[in-house]
Amino acid sequence: MTGRSGNRALDLVLYGATGLVGTLTARYLASTGSAMSIGLAGRSEPALTRLRDGLGSPARNWTILRAHSGDPQSLREMAASARLVVSAAGPYADTGLPVVSACVAVGTEYVDIAGETLFIRDSAHQFHDEAASKNLRIVHSCGFDSLPSDLSVYLLHRRAAQDGTGSLVETNHLLFGQMGNVSAGTIASAIQMLRRCGAHSSDRRDLLDAYTLTPDRPSEPDLGEQPDWLCRAGRAVAPEVSHVQTTAFALAIPNSRIVRRSNALQNWAYGRNLRYTESVALTGSRVSALIARLLYLVIRFGFGVSSRTIHRWPNRLVDVLPAIASVARRRYSGSYRVETYATTSENIRYRAIFEQDGDPGSHATSVLLAESALAMLESGSDESRVCGVLTPAVAIGQVLPERLSRAGLTLRTQRLSPEHTAAAGSPEP
Ligand SMILES: NC(=O)c1ccc[n+]([C@@H]2O[C@H](COP(=O)([O-])OP(=O)(O)OC[C@H]3O[C@@H](n4cnc5c(N)ncnc54)[C@H](OP(=O)(O)O)[C@@H]3O)[C@@H](O)[C@H]2O)c1
Repeated sequence: MTGRSGNRALDLVLYGATGLVGTLTARYLASTGSAMSIGLAGRSEPALTRLRDGLGSPARNWTILRAHSGDPQSLREMAASARLVVSAAGPYADTGLPVVSACVAVGTEYVDIAGETLFIRDSAHQFHDEAASKNLRIVHSCGFDSLPSDLSVYLLHRRAAQDGTGSLVETNHLLFGQMGNVSAGTIASAIQMLRRCGAHSSDRRDLLDAYTLTPDRPSEPDLGEQPDWLCRAGRAVAPEVSHVQTTAFALAIPNSRIVRRSNALQNWAYGRNLRYTESVALTGSRVSALIARLLYLVIRFGFGVSSRTIHRWPNRLVDVLPAIASVARRRYSGSYRVETYATTSENIRYRAIFEQDGDPGSHATSVLLAESALAMLESGSDESRVCGVLTPAVAIGQVLPERLSRAGLTLRTQRLSPEHTAAAGSPEP
């Protein structure tokens, strides 16, 4: 990795290892049977030791490190012990910046599963230049949000570039499949972000700006209104999905901003006229159009009200919301499938498919995080690597698809028949 981190005792340290995703990530790393030296870090040594003991012989020699986001010295010691910090500790609004700061200070690379756009914005503002100057990669959003989105568009771009069929223009991501649980940690993170939006109108404005994560906002093209999601018939996206109805997808907000940051960090390699949406696809029912409309209204109304008022709701009420997640029986099973349809500047159509088993909110995300961490280590000595506060596609897009395929995920691109071009984003009525 960097010259400074070359002789670290550990290959990676997993911070927040005792949380839901942290525990599953530790299990996955133990199951790979690799000879890597690994540390488990968090604020409770007894809990970390119990976790290590439960992982069996592969983890017998793993190091335990006590580290706390309120204790900068403990974070610096943790970061200095390893080549890579993998953080599953959240909400990132509370835990994240001190960890990134410690990593950048001591020259250690970093990867996480943050889907919190405002935290990523702050991390990029504060640390992008310093990380780039120190040859370090700080990589956010390597979980269900936003890795499937980011890698799908990256693969579509690579395919169109290989075929010489122009840049990406209309690009629409559709999410199919059973969802799993939303974890308590995810609900807590969402509440933190909504609270910030309510208390600071500039944060709310930033969150809603399609280009809020791009490094040079004024140089982004003016493409008019860019809705994050669309409620419409699937045939407006592509003939292959004429049987579906699309509706709102709350994660379109973080995901689409990550995709646009990837485009900007690669000097707009995807295209200056990239228009991107993400929606949920509802299938198979005559009433799906009605359900889609209802969901769309509920999400739009819910976001509109909560992002303006949640900071004034009684703490007693808001603080119990994450516990709702514990009411549902925890499932690690589930699956999802993302189909991303792109039309290029030469009117050629492509589709990317990204499919994974496992609950996206826990198990599937832990696989994505662990494989991203391993991809970081694998590509650490690549002299041509881009550095700074990065997206998954920019940091590890070259090596990660191959790793994920070997881990059992489906990732592929297809050139589609030419007779249909997606209707340019006809928004919801
Ligand atoms: N990108 C995605 O698709 C995706 C999916 C799932 C989750 N996430 C995000 O990942 C994060 C973790 O989710 P989760 O479901 O695993 O949550 P969780 O079970 O609540 O775990 C949170 C972890 O963070 C640690 N932590 C919290 N505050 C800390 C502090 N001040 N200092 C040190 N450690 C602290 C906790 O430590 P203790 O064990 O000591 O309490 C725990 O290990 C959340 O931000 C969530 O939004 C993202």
